[in-house]
Amino acid sequence: MTVSDREILAPRASVLIESMRDIGYSLQTAVADVIDNSITAGANTVKLLTDTDSENPAIGILDDGCGMSKTELLEAMRPGTKNPLDKRAIHDLGRFGLGLKTASFSQSRRLIVLTRKGEETSCAIWDLDTVAKEEDWIVEFPSSFSDIPWGKCLSSSGTLVVWQKLDRLIDERNGGDHKNMNRQIDETASHLELVFHRYLAGEKGLKRVSMSLNGRPLEPFDPFHSRHDATIHGPEEVFRFGDHEILIQTFTLPHHKKVSAEDWNRYAGPEGYIKNQGFYLYREKRLIIHGTWFGLAKQTELTKLARVRIDMPNGMDAEWKIDVKKASAQPPGPVRDRLRRIIETIGAGSRRIYVSRGKRLISDNRLPVWIRVQDKNRIHYRLNPEHPAFKNFSEELTNQQQHKFLRLLDLVGSAMPIDTIFSDVSSTPESVSPQELDGESFCEIVKRTYSILKDEKYSEEDIQLMMSSAEPFKSRWEEAKEIIFKR
Ligand SMILES: Nc1ncnc2c1ncn2[C@@H]1O[C@H](COP(=O)(O)OP(=O)(O)OP(=O)(O)O)[C@@H](O)[C@H]1O
Ligand SMILES: [Mg+2]
Repeated sequence: MTVSDREILAPRASVLIESMRDIGYSLQTAVADVIDNSITAGANTVKLLTDTDSENPAIGILDDGCGMSKTELLEAMRPGTKNPLDKRAIHDLGRFGLGLKTASFSQSRRLIVLTRKGEETSCAIWDLDTVAKEEDWIVEFPSSFSDIPWGKCLSSSGTLVVWQKLDRLIDERNGGDHKNMNRQIDETASHLELVFHRYLAGEKGLKRVSMSLNGRPLEPFDPFHSRHDATIHGPEEVFRFGDHEILIQTFTLPHHKKVSAEDWNRYAGPEGYIKNQGFYLYREKRLIIHGTWFGLAKQTELTKLARVRIDMPNGMDAEWKIDVKKASAQPPGPVRDRLRRIIETIGAGSRRIYVSRGKRLISDNRLPVWIRVQDKNRIHYRLNPEHPAFKNFSEELTNQQQHKFLRLLDLVGSAMPIDTIFSDVSSTPESVSPQELDGESFCEIVKRTYSILKDEKYSEEDIQLMMSSAEPFKSRWEEAKEIIFKR
């Protein structure tokens, strides 16, 4: 097709800049995107600063990285400054040349960048109200830096990003309610502890970066609880894709019986274990997305302790469909196949862990009150009529009563509230426990079981072994032993 005429059709500044605000950042993802730049700039320290009480609330992100010259600053302020198709330096966390602007505009109408490199200190401002009024892409340069919040904290080199006119964070309709803003800032700090945990911890091969919120240091939050003895580490697998290497490692977090209640809740996270299971995708060791099986499997109770770390380099963004916010991604086809196989092995492994816990409890237990019966695809639990307490009681009954008694045991087994138990154990496993017998009933059942086993000619050693591995004696064994010896 031949072209007869051409015209430049520039976007309307006020319209496009307003639309850039709505690409879906939250305060958490916006702050993380700005901090990416600080890490790429080689910062040792990143400070998140907030002023929620003054008349002009502001948020600041201050780093001591390499800073920018005035020319570099101007380029940094340009929406779309670097081509996403260009190859980036090996540890660069950026991709689109947009993050600083899109992240800032998503939360505020005024972005100030103050930066120092060598002898040069420069400052530039994007004010969306100026852009709207002038209907043009106008960046402003202040004549003095003295009233820039936290401006005096900038060290000999580094950059300070300040957001003002926080219209998205402060609810003006609610009389400028700041409570919501303070809550979001606290959630942002926790988000940073997760997203940058490998930098905060100074993982091998990474430069440690310390971060703080208004002076409070942020602590790394390792979602794999990898230093705990009871965490199961799978082997690290290397998957080659074109010129790139992807590293994959599975972790199974400790069962709730192996950790303190505090740790159990901490690693569950606010969304809980079920929602937080799945792949944790890191791009250059920075967490991009977590708590998803990428549509390859369902998040189930059985696999809730499984978390799989995937490490990808920064050259694969297009293949993984990384978005501007660095908050979503999709694995490319060949990687999906590999991940699907990994999920299958996790499914089998987790099932083994849970079932073997079940099996062990029941087979180690030589006096099972409950028995687990597996019949083809069906599993059910029933009371064990061979248990010495039941057997002994039953022997005292007439034939007809014995028959009725067995039917009663079957009734109890058949009416077990499995759904309720399952739901309670899934949501608050630490608070579910069998009913505890009072001292008198416990004493009676200890004495009775002991004498039945004695009558059955078991040795003293065998009786103790059997009773100490069976509930209700197992969990109160010291008490039970005392009753046996005092008889
Ligand atoms: N804190 C900083 N220190 C030094 N240079 C910075 C800083 N923040 C931004 N820059 C410079 O500004 C450029 C533009 O940043 P911006 O976040 O908009 O895009 P990007 O990081 O290149 O890509 P992405 O859109 O993926 O974030 C960066 O590439 C970097 O050169
Ligand atoms: Mg960036």
